[in-house]
Amino acid sequence: MPQVDLSLVDGIIDGHLGHPSAVITILQEIQEQYRYLPREVFPRISAKVGLSEAKVYSVATFYENFSLEPKGRVIIKVCDGTACHVRRSLPILSRLQKELNLTDGKVTTEDLLFTVETVACLGACGLAPVLTVSGQAHPAMTPDKAADLIKAIRETELKTAAALASEHSALRSNDPSTNAVGN
Ligand code: FES
Repeated sequence: MPQVDLSLVDGIIDGHLGHPSAVITILQEIQEQYRYLPREVFPRISAKVGLSEAKVYSVATFYENFSLEPKGRVIIKVCDGTACHVRRSLPILSRLQKELNLTDGKVTTEDLLFTVETVACLGACGLAPVLTVSGQAHPAMTPDKAADLIKAIRETELKTAAALASEHSALRSNDPSTNAVGN
């Protein structure tokens, strides 16, 4: 989970001149950084914009786009609007939950890679059943296709992590300070 850098939070608030009317935008920008609203930011926002902490908190809880819990790097939204529901969106959701060891009450994986949510309508009913992966729509979904998507994302993540690790180790081996021979 990312560490909360309060100087970054201060920069966001100061970018809006600490104006109380900008509190929603401030919360949005903080959420873009952390993918959720860490508890630590509320007293900071309160002190800098001059609203009570309870007021800032009530704004954050009023809008469902704000999250007070950490979310995964990959957000999967399964549509359960009427068109998707009648085309069997729930078995897709169940399969994703099973693959990722999630439940209706536990929507983010331990490794903070995936969050699985349901939404009322993605506005693409003609493509039902639909889900989005980090904002990209995947039409005519089935439970098997959803499981394949998860597998593909995991493989990509593993390859990226391996590439980063090998880049890191190449950088270290070229760094004279890490190659010093002990006397
Ligand atoms: S009901 Fe699923 S996209 Fe509209």
